[in-house]
Formats: sequence, C-alpha cells, structure tokens
Amino acid sequence: MKGITAFLLTLLLSSTMAFSQKAEGLAQTPPMGWNSWNTFACDINEQLVISVVDSIVSKGLRDVGYNYIVIDDGWMLHERDKKGNLVADPEKFPNGIKHLADYVHSKGMKFGIYNCAGSYTCGGYPGGRGHEYQDALLYASWGVDFLKYDWCSHGNLTSDAAYTTMRDALYATGRPILFSICEWGDTEPWLWAEEIGHTWRISGDIYPCFNCEDRHDDGLPTQWSAWGIMRILNMRDNSVLRQYSKPGAWNDFDMMEVGNGMTLSEDRSHFALWSLLSSPLMLGNDVRKTSKETLEIITNKEIIAVNQDELGIQGFRFESIDSLDIWVKPLVNDSWAICFLNTSEKPYNLNYNWNQKTIIDTIFNKKINFSTTTCQIRDLFAKKTIGTTKNPTKTTINSHDVFMVTLKPIKK
Ligand code: GLA
Repeated sequence: MKGITAFLLTLLLSSTMAFSQKAEGLAQTPPMGWNSWNTFACDINEQLVISVVDSIVSKGLRDVGYNYIVIDDGWMLHERDKKGNLVADPEKFPNGIKHLADYVHSKGMKFGIYNCAGSYTCGGYPGGRGHEYQDALLYASWGVDFLKYDWCSHGNLTSDAAYTTMRDALYATGRPILFSICEWGDTEPWLWAEEIGHTWRISGDIYPCFNCEDRHDDGLPTQWSAWGIMRILNMRDNSVLRQYSKPGAWNDFDMMEVGNGMTLSEDRSHFALWSLLSSPLMLGNDVRKTSKETLEIITNKEIIAVNQDELGIQGFRFESIDSLDIWVKPLVNDSWAICFLNTSEKPYNLNYNWNQKTIIDTIFNKKINFSTTTCQIRDLFAKKTIGTTKNPTKTTINSHDVFMVTLKPIKK
C-alpha cells in the first residue's frame, strides 16, 4: 500500500512539475511602466512612490499605457525575520508593501517588486537564493504583479536553472506575475529565457549619456560599467536578438533615461529606438518633476503604438549611410516604422529617395518595394502626414536626433 501511495505521489509531483511554466498571457506587448532605480537607487519610500503614482495618473501617463509601478532595490531590511521571511524596511514603508500595492491597484495599475537570484541583491540586501517558494508566496500575498529578478552574488548558480526555480515558485502561487529577468545578457538569455520569463535584460546598466561608458572601478575586484544608449544599442548582434523577441517574450534594453539629463535630441532618439526595438518602456525619471518637453516625448501615442504593435516584431538596422543609421520595424497591415538616427556631432541633411529601395526582413518574411508600393508618410514627432514615398523625403536631422516616420501603403 505504501509503495502505491509513494508511486502516486511521485506521479502527482512530476506531473505538477511538468505543468510548471511562466504565467501565460502577460506581456503580449512590451510591458510599460515606471521603475524607481534610475533616479532614486535605494533611496525609496512609501510617500515617494505614492506621489509618483499620483503624478503618473494626473499627467496622463497611465492612460497612454504606463501601468506597472515597480520598486527596485532598497525596499527591505538587511536581515530576514526569524521565519526566514523578507521584511520591508518599516522606516521607508511604514504601512508595509501590501498597503502600497493596494494603493497602486486602486489607481487601476499593477505593482512590481525587485529581488535577486543570488544570495544578496546588488545593493546588499537579502537575495532569493534558497527561499524562492517562500518569497514567491509572500509577494503573491502582497498582491505583486511583476518581479524583477537580478543576478548579483550568484556564485555557482547556473542562470537558466536559477531563473527556472523562481519561475516555478511564482507559478505555484497561482497569481499571474510577470517575470522580468535581469541577468544583463551575460549568458545569452535570449537563447533560453523564452519559457522562463517575459522579458530579459540584454546588457549591463544604462547610463544617461548618448555614447559613453561610465566605469566603476571603486577598488572592487570586479570592475563594472554602465552604458550610454548607443553602447546598449550596439552591444549585441541585433540580428540574433530579434529572432527571439515575440509577444510574451521580449529583449529588455533596460529602463529608460529619458528626462534624466541628456539633450532633447538624445532623449528623442532613446525613446524612438527603445520603441522600435520592442523593448519594455519603463520610465526611469522623476515623473513628478518632468518637463513639458520630456512629457511630450514619453506620451507620444504614435511612437508608443510602434512599440506596442500587435505583430511584436523587433526592428533592425536596414542600412547606414555615413553617420546616419536607418532602423526599420515591420508593423501590422503591411506598414513600417522607419527611424533615421543621426549619430554624428553635426546636423545631417537627409534627401532620401525611396524609389530605389526595397526593404526585406528575411527573419519575419516581410518586404516592401517602393517602386511597386507607394506609402503615405507620417512624421511621428511632428505628428503630421508629410507626403508619399513617390518623392524623396528631405529634412535636416540634428546631431544625435532622430527623424521617425511610419509608412502606410496606399491602396490602389
Ligand atoms: C543591477 C540592475 C539594476 C538595478 C540594480 C539594483 O545593477 O541591473 O537595474 O536593479 O542592480 O541594485
């Protein structure tokens, strides 16, 4: 009898394991929201987050799609409690995390939190290693909808196995929790993460500059760097990355730095490219103090629509002419988004003759030949229709700026 019970139990357990998966149906388009890290690092608290949530609502950001509010590192105490549970820092979050999550939910948004697959978070707080199921249950009991999971202090862990354990722990809670893998691209997560998480970082941390490397030597045994937007853009072979990007599974180019000190031209390029690459659009600025110009960039509905396009095809660099990079993204209904990026220090006088061009996306089997198909051109920053592809398009693109258009075939 004992033998049969043990056999049945094993069968039950292995079938439960076999059915373990990531939560389905989340992130059918790239997630959008706000994350505390880029502006506040570990200096976060309940009042701050509530005032950010209120600004996101009052400035119309929620209504254009930014609906995940994610608190990053620094929310907990340095020790777990006697039962091994994580404890929110009572000075920073006097009413606890559930109270904050409830507030976010009451505004019609979703709530996200941060931890790490290793023994410690990058800020030195307790990591999830060895506590995955316990932590997942705690997050679920608080009403967490999104978990960003980092890769510091991972020791001898294997990335896909470590993230699978946490995925299974989240799944076992029964609460749909978007799983945001933050392993910095170290072990090529695009090759293994599709079944595990909904997004995966492809680089180390972003830095608010166009093309710099921000080195951190700090006397540490391991040097690390944060990266300007061009560095992140060119860090990996995009023709490889884009093969793995699809609804429910996205390459994450990191939280945005729009509004954090770059020029308006650079901010525009950053936003346009992150949209074209189907990256998550996570704001990283202090939205309470955002300028009119920044707000105009991050609420541009037509550019957000490029990011959120239902085909979910990540864009690619079609051609480079001198210092001009031309990035393209196939969209639904045979439309295309095109982004002319001026990487040089000088203005670029564009005179682009569509007629001689055919754009082919061999991976997703999309093609447009402008000799046979005429398109209407819409300038997404000017929010104007500016003619058709029958005539060359002429404009001046400032240094580090973009000229971004969509092309819509005109029915014959
Ligand atoms: C890593 C991540 C960042 C941030 C910090 C928190 O550096 O890549 O996005 O979460 O840790 O310590």
